[in-house]
Amino acid sequence: MTPAVGRSVSRKDGMAKTTGTARYVDDLSFPGMLYGRTIRSTIPRGRVRSVELDFDREGFTIVDYRDIPGPRCNFVALIEDDQPFLVAEEINHYAEPILLLAHADRERLMAAEVRVEYDAEEPVLDPERSPTTFKTIRINKGDVEAAMSTADRVIEGTYRTGHQEHVYIETNGVIAVPEAGGMTIHGSMQCPYYVHKAIKALLQLSDERVRVVQTETGGGFGGKEEYPNILAGHAALLARKAGRPVKMVYDRVEDMIATTKRHPSIIRHRTGVMNDGHLVAMEIDVLMDGGAYVTLSPVVLSRGCIHAAGPYRCDNTRIQGRVVMTNTPPNGAFRGFGAPQTQFATEVHMDRIAEALGMDPAHLRELNALRPGDTSATGQVMGEDCSALESLKAGVERSDYHRKRAEYAGSNRGIGLSLFFHGSGFTGSGEIYLSSKATLEATETGARIRVASVEMGQGTRTMHAQIVADALGIPYEAVEIVQPDTHQVPDSGPTVASRTCMVVGRILQRCAEEMRERIGDMTPGEYVREHGALSITKQFQKPEEISWDDTEYTGDAYAAYGWGCDVAEVELDPVTYEVKPLRMTIVHEIGKAIHPSMVVGQIEGGTAQGVGWALNENVVMKDGGMANPTLTNYTIPTTLDTPRMDVIVLENPSGYGPFGAKGVGEMPIDGPAPALINAIRHIGLDVRSIPAIPEAVMEVACASR
Ligand code: MOS
Repeated sequence: MTPAVGRSVSRKDGMAKTTGTARYVDDLSFPGMLYGRTIRSTIPRGRVRSVELDFDREGFTIVDYRDIPGPRCNFVALIEDDQPFLVAEEINHYAEPILLLAHADRERLMAAEVRVEYDAEEPVLDPERSPTTFKTIRINKGDVEAAMSTADRVIEGTYRTGHQEHVYIETNGVIAVPEAGGMTIHGSMQCPYYVHKAIKALLQLSDERVRVVQTETGGGFGGKEEYPNILAGHAALLARKAGRPVKMVYDRVEDMIATTKRHPSIIRHRTGVMNDGHLVAMEIDVLMDGGAYVTLSPVVLSRGCIHAAGPYRCDNTRIQGRVVMTNTPPNGAFRGFGAPQTQFATEVHMDRIAEALGMDPAHLRELNALRPGDTSATGQVMGEDCSALESLKAGVERSDYHRKRAEYAGSNRGIGLSLFFHGSGFTGSGEIYLSSKATLEATETGARIRVASVEMGQGTRTMHAQIVADALGIPYEAVEIVQPDTHQVPDSGPTVASRTCMVVGRILQRCAEEMRERIGDMTPGEYVREHGALSITKQFQKPEEISWDDTEYTGDAYAAYGWGCDVAEVELDPVTYEVKPLRMTIVHEIGKAIHPSMVVGQIEGGTAQGVGWALNENVVMKDGGMANPTLTNYTIPTTLDTPRMDVIVLENPSGYGPFGAKGVGEMPIDGPAPALINAIRHIGLDVRSIPAIPEAVMEVACASR
C-alpha cells in the first residue's frame, strides 16, 4: 500500500468546501431562533451613568450584567478573572459590551436605539506610560554586564510593531441553543474546550450540561482562540433568558472594532559584539501592549521573550519582558503568538549590527547561528534537528543572495534576509498541564478519529488521517474524522501553538500503533466483526529528557523547533515611497512534511500575512478604538500585492513528532517582516518600525536627507 504520509492526498474537507455543502455557523438555523446584537461602549474609559432604551420592546429579549447568574460569574474564564462578559459599571475599553438584545426580526433588532450616558475618565493609551503591568518575564544567561564591557562594539536600537487584525474570511459567530437544563453552542472556533469551560463558569452548569460543537470554521489565525468564549457567553445569556436559540454573527466592522488584535510591541536591543562579528552579550527589553484585560497576554509575552534572542548562540543574554494594560480592546493570540514581534526586532537589529561592522548580513548570521550542542537563551541544548545553518545556507543559495546584493546596490531595489525559529506546541510545562487526549476507534470500514483539534482551513483532518492511516496500516480513505463536539470528542487541547500535528498527531499515532498491535493480522473491520468495538484513548506523555523550570525560565522551552530563512527582494517607488515586494525565497525546516502541498499552503499564506503586517496593514487607533475597521481602509495584500514565492521545505526529523514532524502553522509569519525591512535597509532607508506604509517610508527618507 502506498503510504499516505509525505503525499499530497486529497483533502478530507475538500469536496464539501468546493461544492458548497460545508455548513458554516451562518448557514445554520434552529426553530424559533432569534438574532442577537451587542450594545458597546463608545468611550475607552469611564462609568456608565444611564442606559435608556428608545424602542418598542415587543418581542425583544434584553440582557445586562444583572442577568448573569451571580456576580462571581461575570468573568470570562481564561487566565485571570478580570474581564467581564458585560459591563456592570466600569468601562475599560472602547467597544466593551454593555447590553445584549435579541429579536426574531433582524431589521427591528438593528433599528433598536439604545442611549448610554457616561462619566468619562482619562484613558491610558500609551503603553510606555501604563501604570498597570499584567506580567513580567526575565530570562538570564551568563553575565551580561561583564561580557558587554569586553565587547569591541555595543550596538543599540529600538524597534516597533503595530497591531494586526486577523481578517479570517469568516467573521466570529455562534448560535446558542438552550436545551433541557443546559446549553449547546455551535460556532466558529479554535478551542471547543475553552468555550466549554467559559460557559460552564458563566452559567454555573456541570460538564455534561454544556455542549460545544465547532462548526466549519473559515480561518482563525489565533483570532478564534479566546474571543469565542465571550461571544458564546453573550449568545448563551440571551438564549437562556429568551428560552430560544440565539444566533450572533458579527459583521466585518464589529469584528474589527471588538475582537482581538496582535499585540503592538516596543523592543529595545543592546548588543555587545566583537569586530569579527561574534555576539558576546545581548540585552533585550520587550514591551507589549495588552489592552484592557489580561486575556492571553502572559503567554504571548512568554513565547515572545523565549524567541527574543533569535536563533543565535550567545553566552550572555538577558531578556526582560512586560505586558501592560491600556484602555483599548484586549489584544490576543495571533499566529506566532509574540514571536513575530520579538524576532522582527532581533532580525532588523542584526542587519544594523552587520552595517556597523561593515559585514555581510548573511555572514554575521552564519557566525552566530545556533548549531547542535549550542544552548538557547533559556539554556536549552540544541539537538541534531537544529537546522539554522542549513536553512540560512539554502536561503542564500536559492535566492542568489550575494550576486543580487551586489547587483542591486545603489538602485531602487534591495534584497534582505531573516533567520528565525519557532517552538512547536505549548511552552515549557504547558503540554503537561493540558494533558491532551485523543481517541481512535476501529470501525467496520477502517478507523475513526475523535479529537478536539479543529479544521479551520489548515488541514487538521487530512493530516491526522494521514498519520493514522500509515501508523495503522490502512488506506487514507478508510479513516474518518468526527466533527469536534464536546459530547463526542475528548479534550485534545486548543487548536493553537503549532501543536496540532506534532503534539495531537503524535498521540493519535500512539493510539494507532496500539490498535495495530491489538488487531494483529486482521483489518479493523474484521476485528470489530469478531471481537466487537475497539476504542483506544491516549494521553500526552512528556518525553522524559525534556525539562523546564517555570520560575527560573530555564530549560527546554519546546520539545522541538522549526527553522526558517526568508529572503525578500523589494523595489521602492521613488515618488510614492511605496515598497513593492517582488520575490520571496522561503526556506522552512519542519521535520517532516506530512502533506507537502498543505505545508506549502501554510507557508505561502503565513508569508502573505507577514507581508501585510510589514507593509500594508495599519490599524489606526483613535481615542482607543480602531478608526479604520473596514477592508477598504485596513488593506491586506491582494494577490497583486503578494510577491512571487519560492518555497523550499527542508526535513530534519524530530524524535518527538509523528514521522518526525514539527509544527508549521505559525513559523511562516516570523520571517517576512524583518526580511522585507532589511531589503528596504539595503536601499538605504533606516526603517525600524512596521507597518512600513508609504507615509512612514517617506518620513524615514526625508529624515535621512
Ligand atoms: Mo494561536 S496564535 O497559538 O491560535
